Amino acid sequence: MQATAQDMERIERIRERVVGMYSRHPWPSTRRADEEMGWRLRMLGIAPDDFRGKRVLDSGCGTGEYALWYATHGAASVLGVDLSEGSLALAEQRRAQAEVANASFRRMDVLKLDLKDESFDYSYSVGVLHHTGDPARGFRELCRVTRPGGVVIVSLYSSFSRLRLRWKQALCKLLGGDDVDRRALIGRRLFFNTMRKMNQRYHETNYELISYDVFGFPHESLHSAGEVLGWFDECGIDYLGSFAPLRARDYLYAFALPEYREFRSTFAGYPLVRAVADATSRLATVLFSIPPAGEVRRFRRPGPASRLATQLLWFGIGDRINCFTIAGRKPVR
Ligand SMILES: C[S@@+](CC[C@H](N)C(=O)[O-])C[C@H]1O[C@@H](n2cnc3c(N)ncnc32)[C@H](O)[C@@H]1O
Repeated sequence: MQATAQDMERIERIRERVVGMYSRHPWPSTRRADEEMGWRLRMLGIAPDDFRGKRVLDSGCGTGEYALWYATHGAASVLGVDLSEGSLALAEQRRAQAEVANASFRRMDVLKLDLKDESFDYSYSVGVLHHTGDPARGFRELCRVTRPGGVVIVSLYSSFSRLRLRWKQALCKLLGGDDVDRRALIGRRLFFNTMRKMNQRYHETNYELISYDVFGFPHESLHSAGEVLGWFDECGIDYLGSFAPLRARDYLYAFALPEYREFRSTFAGYPLVRAVADATSRLATVLFSIPPAGEVRRFRRPGPASRLATQLLWFGIGDRINCFTIAGRKPVR
């Protein structure tokens, strides 16, 4: 699909402002990838073999937590790309400190990856494409650089769970205009409860940065699961799984998994969500036998009714979900 000159100009303006902000306020900086990845990958239908000994791309790597996680969990090599100099500098500093030899970071536009076709086994992009102004193009780029038989994973803001935050963001924008610092400050002053919860989710380490990511951001788009599955179809990628699940029955499976216990700490700040999740986990382990470690489940692709029901649930949960992730496999021709 050819972008018009007007489109390109719009995207260029978005890129400049988004990257400028993330360069001054590198995100996420303090993510603990360890607590998230086990549960997320199992619910995406990902086997450790999908990235062990493989070439992994982290597109829009930010401060590099996920890239370094893959590099230290068996990937042969990991390339993290981003345009934010500030984030890349932090990522590289961490890589050097931890002496991770199989990861590297490069400055690159996720909408125009300077990488060969089919050069990665596993392409991952979390929380990035909704900041670009043309997420579908970024997704096509991910698919292009993935080899047949490889895995594509993308995570985007949900138009259901993020909706409840929208009026707060709109108010910050109305009062702060294009001034990102002012918007973030207004967010901190007006919505301290939202800020407090989100900060607890990051174990009280990220207060000011969160206000930039949530209220100061220059551009973000929201997406439904149906829309993103449409991108998978256009690129001919087969569905593997989603996180959070998009079928009600997959929640019981999810909460029977031992990896939930690790993830549970990210519900700090959301006591009601955590209480319901804990109760579901107890019920699931009674109804289900605990899935064996290493089992890779084949999830069924969710139909429209399942998608609607689960996304309405996400609307109820609100900002603790924010992004949803979908994984697929590029078929071997
Ligand atoms: C919210 S952060 C996500 C970072 C990381 N993926 C994570 O979740 O831990 C978004 C990142 O996307 C990057 N970004 C936005 N537009 C980009 C573009 N067109 N090309 C490369 N990076 C971009 C920003 O610089 C920022 O580091």
